[in-house]
Amino acid sequence: MRVEALVFDLFGTLVDVSSVEGACAGEAPDPHAFVTLWRQKQLEYSWLRALMGRYEDFWSVTSAALDYSLERFKMTPGDAARRRLLEAWLAVRPYPETAAALARLQPRSLAILSNGSPHMLEQVLRSAGLRDRFAHVLSVEEVRTYKPAPAVYALAERHVGLPRERLLFVSSNAWDVAGARAFGLRVAWVNRAGGPPERLGEGPDLIVRDLAELADHVTG
Ligand code: LAC
Repeated sequence: MRVEALVFDLFGTLVDVSSVEGACAGEAPDPHAFVTLWRQKQLEYSWLRALMGRYEDFWSVTSAALDYSLERFKMTPGDAARRRLLEAWLAVRPYPETAAALARLQPRSLAILSNGSPHMLEQVLRSAGLRDRFAHVLSVEEVRTYKPAPAVYALAERHVGLPRERLLFVSSNAWDVAGARAFGLRVAWVNRAGGPPERLGEGPDLIVRDLAELADHVTG
């Protein structure tokens, strides 16, 4: 596969959202169930706000999704504990193979394209030790809407400076794969969980289990 530039989703693709569970361990009786709901609400609120034309940045959306989830789980942490939960999103851990795979892909231009606010993206990439790998760190903030709106994927073309069919967009989120594909990007789906594809149009150009396998395809 000939690829000049790769554009990565961040949460769930390069960094593992389930690592937020660690911060919830002392607070939630079932940290996995709690973070699963929190993540689902975070995404729902981003999609709904995009449809409503009521953009608020991803930090605010994550905070609102936290309050919903706390009430559903009947949890009442104090201010400091609540802040600790929210700030876990600034230190989400990379997957074990992320750093080595990016190093192998590096001679190509690498970019991030994420729903995250600029502050979240900088913090997460720095705490993961990955910031220097990326020539572009693109946040939806510039267009004030969320994936899978086409205006978001257009940011990749505009900033990286290559037409969509010469970029490879990489995401683990199947709905993000569908959105990028609908826009016309080439797309690799990192199907870590072995889940079914979304029924939202054309499937991805490439399906891999993890980022190491992606690097094998692109560099091989
Ligand atoms: C992101 C969300 C989709 O990083 O995880 O954009």
